[in-house]
Amino acid sequence: MGTHFILVTIAIMALASTLVSASDPSPLQDFCVAINNSDVFVNGKVCKDPKLATADDFFFSSLLTPQSTSNPVGSKVTPVNVMQILGLNTLGISLARIDFAPYGLNPPHTHPRATEVIVVLEGTLYVGFVTSNTDNRLFTKVLYPGDVFVFPQGLIHFQFNNGKTNAVALAALSSQNPGTITVANAVFGSNPRISDDVLAKAFQVDKKVDFCVAINNSDVFVNGKVCNDPKLATADDFFFSGLLTPQNTSNPVGSMVTPVNVMQILGLNTLGISLARIDFAPYGLNPPHTHPRATEIIVVLEGTLYVGFVTSNTDNRLFTKVLYPGDVFVFPQGLIHFQFNNGKTNAVALAALSSQNPGTITVANAVFGSNPMISDDVLAKAFQVDKKVVDHLQAQFWYPNN
Ligand SMILES: *[C@@H]1O[C@H](CO)[C@@H](O)[C@H](O)[C@H]1NC(C)=O
Ligand SMILES: *[C@@H]1O[C@H](CO)[C@@H](O)[C@H](O)[C@H]1NC(C)=O
Ligand SMILES: *[C@@H]1O[C@H](CO)[C@@H](O)[C@H](O)[C@H]1NC(C)=O
Repeated sequence: MGTHFILVTIAIMALASTLVSASDPSPLQDFCVAINNSDVFVNGKVCKDPKLATADDFFFSSLLTPQSTSNPVGSKVTPVNVMQILGLNTLGISLARIDFAPYGLNPPHTHPRATEVIVVLEGTLYVGFVTSNTDNRLFTKVLYPGDVFVFPQGLIHFQFNNGKTNAVALAALSSQNPGTITVANAVFGSNPRISDDVLAKAFQVDKKVDFCVAINNSDVFVNGKVCNDPKLATADDFFFSGLLTPQNTSNPVGSMVTPVNVMQILGLNTLGISLARIDFAPYGLNPPHTHPRATEIIVVLEGTLYVGFVTSNTDNRLFTKVLYPGDVFVFPQGLIHFQFNNGKTNAVALAALSSQNPGTITVANAVFGSNPMISDDVLAKAFQVDKKVVDHLQAQFWYPNN
């Protein structure tokens, strides 16, 4: 019994220390749009004057455009990181599109600063990652459209199109600048050649554990979730399917969020990233809300969305943009934002969020639908309206769409 207690204590302490993980530094202001080619070198990029920021600093288009894969490996990565969206600076997240010819390969590589979550849009991919020394276990899975898979931070991984048609995947990465080290290129193509001693060191990953697959309903409460024994992990712990399945939007707001976070993929625990699908009926709204623990980057797959976010006090500046399929937009961490389908057809977006559990605070639900209700004296003063207006708002049903 005593020994058992000590082991559990050590396990929890070990977990707690791994939770201080290496990821991008937290933002110290609403955003810090990068100056692209500054002479000043800092960790990340120097910010431009926030007053000069516009919605276009958070925007990128044509991510749904197929790319040429006529090259020796038969694959092409289209990054959407801080080089393409200067507003991603300090926000700890980015996207990429990966095109594959039949039998095309995204060769074994690592992202030194990011966990990657991919969703297959078209075709079939055989994917895998290898854990660090001394186990070097290979986890593999065949992915079909709508399937989601996680490559934990720093681990060597690959994607191979094992089908006769083209394949396309979207990847979210938990860094504004994840970096890529392609194993063959770095090891056999470096100039000059590097010694075996140095290579052995270079391939070590500085995390204490490669991953920490969550125990879903543990009685032990920590920051995040308690890890399962790593020996029991399987590829399915990093997998989710059906993300391309349209969802029912027959509800008062006309939108539905399908989260793919640590509750759906237990292997996301400690890795600082997650996905979501958002379906919109015509004129459907994802109402003003914030994610207390995440920056969000969305890509529109279908339809048209009018989106925006508001900076914090005392400016409260609104940044808006109309997005079409392939367009990408960033909602900086913690800021209130919304997405509205201003078209006559359904709309669909995929979102990546820089937390395993971003959380959502829908403004109307939290303020006028809390349990128990916030006193109408407080709200009447806060919103500078008559108490009757507050009572009316508090009497509404505030539909939770996520
Ligand atoms: C930033 O500079 C790089 C290199 O000069 C260029 O490729 C990139 O397109 C620029 N990004 C933006 C958003 O202007
Ligand atoms: C969608 O949800 C509504 C309300 O819950 C329900 O009445 C309707 O049957 C559902 N539609 C489909 C296609 O499942
Ligand atoms: C974890 O538990 C929650 C609530 O009990 C459940 O909704 C969810 O599907 C579970 N996740 C997995 C991956 O088993």
